[in-house]
Amino acid sequence: MSQAMSDIAVTELQQMAASWESEYKQLISGNNVRLDLSRGKPAPEQLALSDSLDGILHGNFITPSGIDTRNYGNVLGIPEARALGAELMGVPANEVVAGGNSSLSLMHFVLGTAMHQGFWGDQRRWRNDPRPKLLTPVPGYDRHFALSESFGLEMINIPMTPAGPDMQRAAELAANDPSIKGIWCVPKYSNPTGNTYSQDIVDAMAVLPQQAASDDFVVLWDNAYAVHDLDEAGDILPCLREACLKVGTYDHVVQFASTSKITLASGGVGFIAVSENVLKVLEKHLSVFVIGPDKVNQLRHVKFLGGRLKEHMAAHAAIVRPKFERVLTKLRTELADLKVANWTEPKGGYFISLDVQPGLAKKVITLAGAAGLTLTPAGATFPYGKDPLDKNIRIAPTFAQEAELEQAMHILTLCIKLVSAQATLGQQKV
Ligand SMILES: Cc1ncc(COP(=O)(O)O)c(C=O)c1O
Repeated sequence: MSQAMSDIAVTELQQMAASWESEYKQLISGNNVRLDLSRGKPAPEQLALSDSLDGILHGNFITPSGIDTRNYGNVLGIPEARALGAELMGVPANEVVAGGNSSLSLMHFVLGTAMHQGFWGDQRRWRNDPRPKLLTPVPGYDRHFALSESFGLEMINIPMTPAGPDMQRAAELAANDPSIKGIWCVPKYSNPTGNTYSQDIVDAMAVLPQQAASDDFVVLWDNAYAVHDLDEAGDILPCLREACLKVGTYDHVVQFASTSKITLASGGVGFIAVSENVLKVLEKHLSVFVIGPDKVNQLRHVKFLGGRLKEHMAAHAAIVRPKFERVLTKLRTELADLKVANWTEPKGGYFISLDVQPGLAKKVITLAGAAGLTLTPAGATFPYGKDPLDKNIRIAPTFAQEAELEQAMHILTLCIKLVSAQATLGQQKV
């Protein structure tokens, strides 16, 4: 088959659709497969790479800097863990907070601070605006949307391009609406597109706080996949800090990262990076939130990852790369010629973003679900669960075993072919 579906003669396409339909019906009759491509989490083999975290301290809880990690205190984290965060985020260690087990909870803390206390030790607070809003590049990360919604922050979609968010649109909106208070970014191997922001986009992001009509605009820079390259030659993310320092906006950036997908998911270390000015304010509010982070876990991480982060991430890549390749090969062989879908081919991260023809994502996901394949719910990659074109499907290849992936992709591509053929032929149902 080397013809676009739209060019196939009706009678021929009817025959193809009938054969896909009978294959699908066979699949669901007596079907008891349970497959899942919705879980953006590490596979057990990836977690096992960090098994030696357990017991690594051998009873020595004192940091090289002399801190007893078993006790309260050090709200910004131990210096050695702050240095680890600095390495991950490409910033100086004195701008880093090494926190607890999750960057998501740090994001919650940061949004709360932005709403109620502000970052600058003055009267600026997002809650001063009756309808504060955030810009959300789409498709994006569902938990950013849930967080924003939980704080009553309205979200405005910004389209993603392969180089990053549409910055012209972002600047137009922010310049004309003082209630727009910030923008969410996953700048490297974005969830779910896998795109990495270009230098132009990073430069444009650095001037956005100046262009914004509000004086308390903040770039929320969630660099969750900073070191998650699938190949040695991964994408290079230009440095936002440098770009901001050039134009004087560094007090309007909060960066996040964590080791959740480096060591243990929910058992790692989360980080924030901000300017020294903002850190002083943040520290005050952080000490209301927590007496000290889990410093024992921080010390374990320092011992485990110190000097071997690259090697450790290469071991992850060796497990994850074949899974991405398997998914992409199946998409190419089953769908490329038919031209019924587009997808991203990321060089790292945890996701592949698949766009089917507009109006078909929900149907594909439902059909796949009936055949035993769970996919991320339609619309989940958009604020309020609403994909305006109903076309985006997020594929998470990491957790499944390779054989399961093959089966899952067979079901997914079959469903896409069937639903696309039905739409092309003007039919409604299987
Ligand atoms: C973009 C992004 N940020 C944050 C997280 C969660 O991070 P953590 O485990 O540090 O809370 C994820 C997890 O999937 C993610 O994809």
